[in-house]
Amino acid sequence: MKFFIDTANLSDIAEAQAFGVLDGVTTNPSLMAKEGITGADNITAHYKKICDLVDGDVSAEVISTDFDGMVKEGEALAALNPQIVVKLPLIADGIKACKYFSDKGIKTNVTLVFSAGQALLAAKAGATYVSPFIGRLDDISTDGLNLIAEIRQIYDNYGFETQILAASVRHTMHVIDCAKLGSDVMTGPLSSIKGLLKHPLTDIGLAKFLEDYKKGNQ
Ligand code: E4P
Repeated sequence: MKFFIDTANLSDIAEAQAFGVLDGVTTNPSLMAKEGITGADNITAHYKKICDLVDGDVSAEVISTDFDGMVKEGEALAALNPQIVVKLPLIADGIKACKYFSDKGIKTNVTLVFSAGQALLAAKAGATYVSPFIGRLDDISTDGLNLIAEIRQIYDNYGFETQILAASVRHTMHVIDCAKLGSDVMTGPLSSIKGLLKHPLTDIGLAKFLEDYKKGNQ
């Protein structure tokens, strides 16, 4: 299972990369704005900084909603660095643009996916990644994890190579449940990755080992 970090915060990205388990980064316009990154030039420069920090795929989202605009923006983003994955919204023109980029060998991440039917369309269009938003479904009392299970079954039935990228992950249990369901990737905040470390018995056990070592070496 790949771990992506879902942020535009350079310090969090650097910390996750240094931790040694990071496979990539996802961003979106809201995450950029949260870091105060505005304007096309600044956003482009920020993507370059993110690519320099990590080894894996970096999703960069288009803001156009028409096919021609998405193609123009996506081509410019893809030209920044081979790590860039063009992130496209699941709308009709987004699916058309996904097919266009897929035919050209440019990686895509189809985002804002909330149903199995949408995920089927993204796979048919050759998406590299599909991003079901599990946290936002949970927010409206709908089982986000069930969507991961449905997409897994559909993709396995037909051997679709599109990778399921569980998005809108909020906490460690989302990560573990997505892993149990066979999600190919999860993207979440730094806390959802670091939280996996925690177990009181690990801390207690380590303290005891160190204490016993000291006793034996006095
Ligand atoms: C996915 O790529 C999105 O950036 C993200 O996971 C959305 O998460 P949120 O629902 O916490 O905003």
